[in-house]
Amino acid sequence: MPDTLATGPAAPPKEIRLEDYKVPPFLVDAVDLVFDLKETGTRVTSRLTLRRNPDSEEKTAPLFLDGEDVRLTAVTLDGEALGANRYVLSDDGLTIPDAPDAFTLDVEAEIDPAKNTELSGLYTSGGTFCTQCEAEGFRRITFFPDRPDVMARYTVTMLADKAAYPVLLSNGNRVDGGDATGGRHWAKWEDPHPKPSYLFALVAGDLVALSDSFTTRSGRKVELNIHVRRGDEDKCGHAMRSLKTAMKWDEEVYGLEYDLDLFNIVAVSDFNMGAMENKGLNIFNTKYILAKPETATDFDYHSIERVVAHEYFHNWTGDRVTCRDWFQLSLKEGLTVFRDQQFSADQGSAAVRRIGDVARLRASQFPEDSGPMAHPVRPERYIAIDNFYTATVYQKGAEVVRMIHTLIGADAFRKGMDLYIARHDNQAVTIEDFVAAMRDASGVDLTQFRRWYSTAGTPVLTVEEDHDPETGRYALTVRQRIPPTPGQEKKEPLLIPLAVGLLSPEGNEILETTVLKLTEREQRFTFEGQKAKPVPSLLRGFSAPVRLAAQPRERLKFLFAHDTDPFARWEAGQQFAAQLLLDMVKAHQSGGLMALDPDFIGIFARTLSDGSLEPAFRAEALTLPGDGFLADQMEVVDVEAIDAALTAARRTIAEALHGELIAAYRANQDEGPYRIDPDSVGRRALKNLCLSVLGVLDEDADAAALVDRQFAEAGNMTDRLAALSVLNDSARPARATALEAFRNRWKDDPLVMDKWFTLQATSRLPGTVEAVERLTRHEDYDPRNPNRVRALLAAFGSANPLHFHRADGAGYAFLADRIIALDRHNPQLSARLISPLGRWRRQDPGRQALMKQALERILATEGLSKDSFEIASKSLS
Ligand code: TRP
Ligand code: ZN
Repeated sequence: MPDTLATGPAAPPKEIRLEDYKVPPFLVDAVDLVFDLKETGTRVTSRLTLRRNPDSEEKTAPLFLDGEDVRLTAVTLDGEALGANRYVLSDDGLTIPDAPDAFTLDVEAEIDPAKNTELSGLYTSGGTFCTQCEAEGFRRITFFPDRPDVMARYTVTMLADKAAYPVLLSNGNRVDGGDATGGRHWAKWEDPHPKPSYLFALVAGDLVALSDSFTTRSGRKVELNIHVRRGDEDKCGHAMRSLKTAMKWDEEVYGLEYDLDLFNIVAVSDFNMGAMENKGLNIFNTKYILAKPETATDFDYHSIERVVAHEYFHNWTGDRVTCRDWFQLSLKEGLTVFRDQQFSADQGSAAVRRIGDVARLRASQFPEDSGPMAHPVRPERYIAIDNFYTATVYQKGAEVVRMIHTLIGADAFRKGMDLYIARHDNQAVTIEDFVAAMRDASGVDLTQFRRWYSTAGTPVLTVEEDHDPETGRYALTVRQRIPPTPGQEKKEPLLIPLAVGLLSPEGNEILETTVLKLTEREQRFTFEGQKAKPVPSLLRGFSAPVRLAAQPRERLKFLFAHDTDPFARWEAGQQFAAQLLLDMVKAHQSGGLMALDPDFIGIFARTLSDGSLEPAFRAEALTLPGDGFLADQMEVVDVEAIDAALTAARRTIAEALHGELIAAYRANQDEGPYRIDPDSVGRRALKNLCLSVLGVLDEDADAAALVDRQFAEAGNMTDRLAALSVLNDSARPARATALEAFRNRWKDDPLVMDKWFTLQATSRLPGTVEAVERLTRHEDYDPRNPNRVRALLAAFGSANPLHFHRADGAGYAFLADRIIALDRHNPQLSARLISPLGRWRRQDPGRQALMKQALERILATEGLSKDSFEIASKSLS
C-alpha cells in the first residue's frame, strides 16, 4: 500500500438518522447458537428461523445480516450450502439477495475472543470468556440483524475446556449439559423470553459464586448467584443484599416480579461501562459488585446498591419492554435511572439522595448540554451510538420522567407504568408509546411536555417578584429561555413544573410546596393574602432540570439558614457560596484581598452543630461548590483563580472555626465495627468534611496530627481514603510516605489501586501533569483495562481542571497522545476521553488554541475510529 495523507477514518463515517427508520424487512423467530469456545478460533454456529416481516413495505428486499470482524466459513439456506455467487460479503455484513419468504439459515463463523481488545462482542477478561452486546456487539459474534426491533427466542449451546472454564452460563435456564471428549464439557441454555440481540450474553470461566434465593410474592423461588473470580467471594454480600432489596422494592412499588427461576450476575474486571442488563445474566464491572469495608468506600457501597438495582429494574424496563431503535435509548435508560433513584431515595434519606443526584446532573449533564455534543434526550442523529450513552440520555432522561411523575402524580404514574407494560410487553417501542401510556392513564395532556425529548440545552429561568402590601397580592413573573445548541437555533417553550414554597420573614412556611406549570415564555403567578412580603423558595426538590438565574444574595442567605425544604436549603447554600467564591475569584484576578463574608462563616458554624439536621445533610450543606460549578458561572474560566479562591475560602473557614471543626470531628467519630446504615455513613461524611477543611492548614500541628492518625489507624476505606485525599494536596513529606504505604498494602487489589491512581491524577500540587505522565509508565498501569485508564486519564481530564488546563498546554497534549494510542485498541473508551478537550469555548484564547490543536491532532490520526472521529469533529465545529 502506498503512503497516503489519510486524515481520520478511511471513509467518512455515515450518519444514522431517526427519520430514516424503517421496520426490519425480516424477522427472526428463533436463534439456535453453538459456541465451541477457544481463546482464538472460537467457532460460532447459528441457525436462524427467518421470515419476511408482514409490516414491511420492502417485499423483495434482500436479507442483510450485520457482521463485523467475523470470519464466515459457511452459509446454508434451507439445508442447501450457498456458493459464493449466492451471497455478498462486505466489511459490515452479509447480504443474501434472493431470500425466500420463510426459511432457515445456518451460518458458521469464527472469532478470536482473546484478541478482542474493544471489549465489545465476545472477549476474555482475566481468563474468563464474557460478552458485551449492547449496543452493536452481537454483530461481532455472528451474522445477524443486529437491531433491537428484531426479537427472537434464543437457545445456546456452549462447549469449553472443563478445567479452565468449569462455569458455563447464558441467558434463561440451563436445560442440559454434560462432559465431552478431550477434557471439555458443555451446557445448553434456553431463554423462554424473546429478546433483541443486544441482550444476549454468555460467560465461561473459573468462577466462584455467592448463592442465595428470593421468593417472589406469587411464590416463585428464584435462585440467585453472583459469580466472581476466586478470592473475591468475600466481597459479594452487599451486592446480594442490594439485589434482594431491589427485587422486593420493584414488587411493592411497581408490582413487577421477576420472571425466571434463575438470576445470575457475573463480575469482570475489564468492562467498558458500569454493568449490563442481559436477560437473566447481568454482567458487571467488578467496581459495582465487590465491596468490603477495608476496600470500598461508603460511596462505593452506595454505587453498588444503585447499579445492582438499576440493572435488575431493566428486566421490565428494557428487557420485557425494549427499544425500537437506538434513538429511543432513553426510553429504557431514563426510565430505569428514575426508578433506581426512587429506590435509592427509599433506602436512606430522600433529601440527601436527591442532593447527590442533582449535583451529579449539574457536574456532568449541564456541561454536556452547553457544549459541542449537546443533544436532545432523544437524539436525532449519530455516527457511533456508543457515544450517546450520555448524561443527557441517562440523567436528563430520568429528570424528564420525574417531571411526568410530578405533573400527573404518583398514583397516575403507577397506572401509566401498568398500562405501558400491559400494552407493550415483548415489544420494541418508542418514547411516544411511553408518553401515550402516561397520558392515557392520567388523562393529562402531555403534548407540549413531549418537547423535552426533542429540545437540547438547559433552560434558564428568571424569576421576578412583586408585592403589594395593600392588597396582600404577591406575584412571581417567570421567564424561560433555552440557549441555542448545535443544530437547534430556536426552541419552542417547554412545559416546566416549577415547585415553589413561600416562607414568612421569620422563616415559617406559609405556602407549602406548590407546583406551578410554566407553559409560556413568560408567565405571572399570583398569591393572595400576603400582607407581609414572603420569601420565595424556588425550584424545590429540583422539580425541573433548569438553571435558575442568580437570586438576590440576601434571599439565598436567608434560605440557607431557614428553608424548610432540605433540598432548597442545600441549594441556597450552594448558590450563596458560589456568589461569594466568584467575588473572591474577581478579587484574586485584580490582585485584591480575598475575603469571605463573615455571615457565611456564621451559618456554616450553626449548620455544623445543628443536631436537628441529619449528619449526611450537614455534610452536603457544608461542602463548598466544586471547580466545575464555579467555572460554569464564569464567562471566561480562570482555573487558577478558582483554585486560589477555593483554597482561601477553606483556609478562612478552618482558621475561624478551628475549635468547632475539631469538636465536630470528634463528636462524629464512631468507635466499634463499621456499619453502613444512613446515620453511620452520614457521621463519617461529616467527620471527613471537617477533616478536609482542617487539612488545608498544612502548617497546623493539630490538623496534621488528625490527618496522619486517621490515615494510619482507619479501620475502613472511607476514612483511610478521606485522610489520604487531604494528604494528596499537601506539601508535607507525609504525602509520599502515605501513598507508598497505601500501594504496598493494596497492590494486589485492582479496585483499590484505581483509587491510588485517581488520587494522584487529581492532585492540586505543582508538577501533576508530569506525575500523571510518569504514572502511565508505572508497572501497575494497564492501558487495556478501562477502569485503570479511567482512574488515571478520565480523572485527570475531567476532575483536575487546574492541571488539565495548565497554561502551556502540557495537559492537553498529554491527553491527546494517550487518546490516539488508545483509539487503536478500544475506540469506545478513547472517544469518551475526548470530551474535556471539547470544552474550549469558555477558555482564554491561548488555551482555546492549544485545545483545538490537540483535537486537530486527534482528528488527523490515520485510521481513527468513527467513535473518536465523531467526538473530535463535533468538538471542533
Ligand atoms: N445498558 C447498560 C446500562 O445499564 C449500559 C451499557 C453497558 C453499555 N455496557 C455498555 C452501553 C457498552 C454501551 C456499550 O446502563
Ligand atoms: Zn441502564
